[in-house]
Amino acid sequence: MVLITGGAGYIGSHTASCLLDAGHDILILDNLSNSFRSTVDRLQGFAKTSTLRFVEADLLDRELLDRLFLNYPIKAVIHFAGRKSVPESIQNPMLYYQQNVEATLNLLRVMGEHGCHRMVFSSSAAVYGDAQAVPVTEVCPAVPKSPYGHSKLMVEQVLRSIASAEPQWCLTILRYFNPVGAHPGGQLGESPRYPLSNLFPQLAQTIAGEAGPFQVFGQQYASEDGTGVRDFIHVQDLAEGHLCALHRQQPGCQTYNLGTGKGYTVLEVIAAFEQVTGQPVPFEMAPARAGDIGCLYASVELSRHALDWQAHRGLKQMVEDYWRWWCSSTAGGTPLRGCSWPAVTASNR
Ligand code: NAD
Ligand code: WQD
Repeated sequence: MVLITGGAGYIGSHTASCLLDAGHDILILDNLSNSFRSTVDRLQGFAKTSTLRFVEADLLDRELLDRLFLNYPIKAVIHFAGRKSVPESIQNPMLYYQQNVEATLNLLRVMGEHGCHRMVFSSSAAVYGDAQAVPVTEVCPAVPKSPYGHSKLMVEQVLRSIASAEPQWCLTILRYFNPVGAHPGGQLGESPRYPLSNLFPQLAQTIAGEAGPFQVFGQQYASEDGTGVRDFIHVQDLAEGHLCALHRQQPGCQTYNLGTGKGYTVLEVIAAFEQVTGQPVPFEMAPARAGDIGCLYASVELSRHALDWQAHRGLKQMVEDYWRWWCSSTAGGTPLRGCSWPAVTASNR
């Protein structure tokens, strides 16, 4: 059985669907602080030859964690649970060190006490901060610019220290770049409890008429059109990367970038949304956000060879799958939006 912490969340739920499809029995632990029980209900549909169990609980509840490992044959953990907002971490750093570091220490202690020594950990390209060169490799200096990025790097250091001290641990650190998109079947997508300030949801709000002109933050970067560059990766590619990482775990602690190896500018993403939705995106140039990074995209040579994995879904599919989910998403079963999306057929993929 694989324990998926934060498995009701965006990336966790997509990864859970992949593991279920691959026949893994899974146990999701989630406190639903940024997700909904309805996501877990929809995941049951993927449990054909495997089993899905769910426990609503907080990683900080050590006694509950202890009971879980006593009652379930947990052989490995994929650890997604945590908080992920850079601006929030700047406002409330202690929350991030508690939720991302203290909670992980709790989990690792209980894992060790129960002889479970396998973890795949959700880290972030945020650990790189302002990368000196792109594409970014796993050995580039990690100089985070936010408490969120520092919290991820701290956990990475803990994992590397544990692996050095105790050779029985198999630990895999996955540094995600910019996950976007949704499950092509329409059952899963990003449905947070808190508002998102990221590029895709902001663009969708403008197109859906829920916000004013889209604000392009900064146009003085060293990119072909001067706007920021990011390595957007389809959440399904990311989920499949976790399956590969789980299946290829080995003793020690290994770190891999999970990206596409290709960067897209903000203006290129705007053009992709206009092509997919068939609607213009009104936008304005605005000053860069405090602490924003200009250009960041991954070197994926190491993950391609060591995990035998690479992303293969392009920007158009990321936007199509995201927009379909955005138009169809509901709040507790009540459709939130009536916007339409073009029927996605093989010809227009
Ligand atoms: P998410 O917020 O959708 O999912 C996180 C899940 O963890 C939520 O369901 C939440 O309810 C749960 N959770 C939070 N704190 C918990 C706790 N103390 N106990 C139990 N459950 C708890 O986020 P996501 O986008 O799926 O990200 C998953 C992981 O990947 C996070 O660790 C995040 O830092 C990392 N990451 C995300 C991105 C991104 O852009 N989405 C990029 C890089 C890394
Ligand atoms: C992407 C690009 C913006 C909104 C964040 C977190 C990071 C990770 C991924 C967790 C940038 C531009 C955006 C807008 C804009 N999450 N933009 N107008 O900043 O790369 O990373 O999400 O690990 O930790 O920091 O993603 O989607 O916010 O921005 O111009 O209204 O879009 O300037 O160039 P980012 P983003």
